[in-house]
Amino acid sequence: MALDPDMWLGCFEDGKLVGVLVGTHESRKGWLNRLAVLPEHQGKGFGKAMVLEMERRLRAKGLGIFAVLIEDGHDASLRLFKEAGYEEHEGMHYLRKRDSPDI
Ligand SMILES: CC(C)(COP(=O)(O)OP(=O)(O)OC[C@H]1O[C@@H](n2cnc3c(N)ncnc32)[C@H](O)[C@@H]1OP(=O)(O)O)[C@@H](O)C(=O)NCCC(=O)NCCS
Repeated sequence: MALDPDMWLGCFEDGKLVGVLVGTHESRKGWLNRLAVLPEHQGKGFGKAMVLEMERRLRAKGLGIFAVLIEDGHDASLRLFKEAGYEEHEGMHYLRKRDSPDI
């Protein structure tokens, strides 16, 4: 499987990687995954900037629906995405299957 470099975002300060975001899509809906900013660099706008840049890249590929899964307790992330216009989707179940408890 070929990786699409457009879908891998990093933000840098003084040449050091301080934040990441990985996008994926299946041609209809874009997913924003693995958003994280190093604790000492949080609150400077990196997270929001990466979300908006990933949306821009997904739009450029023709996608107009964006989605994210946020675990309970990740309040900063929840607030960031709500401020960026994301809404909670009622009537959806999150299911998963693991081949091993270690992965
Ligand atoms: C979520 C995370 C990526 C935000 O990154 P960040 O660079 O600090 O975010 P920004 O500075 O761009 O802030 C954007 C918005 O996020 C929200 N936010 C950021 N930090 C927050 C905090 N500590 N508490 C509450 N809201 C917060 C605010 O709404 C903020 O908007 P504002 O500055 O206008 O108030 C970062 O907190 C993080 O890495 N958390 C741990 C990993 C994680 O939860 N990842 C998300 C998985 S879905």
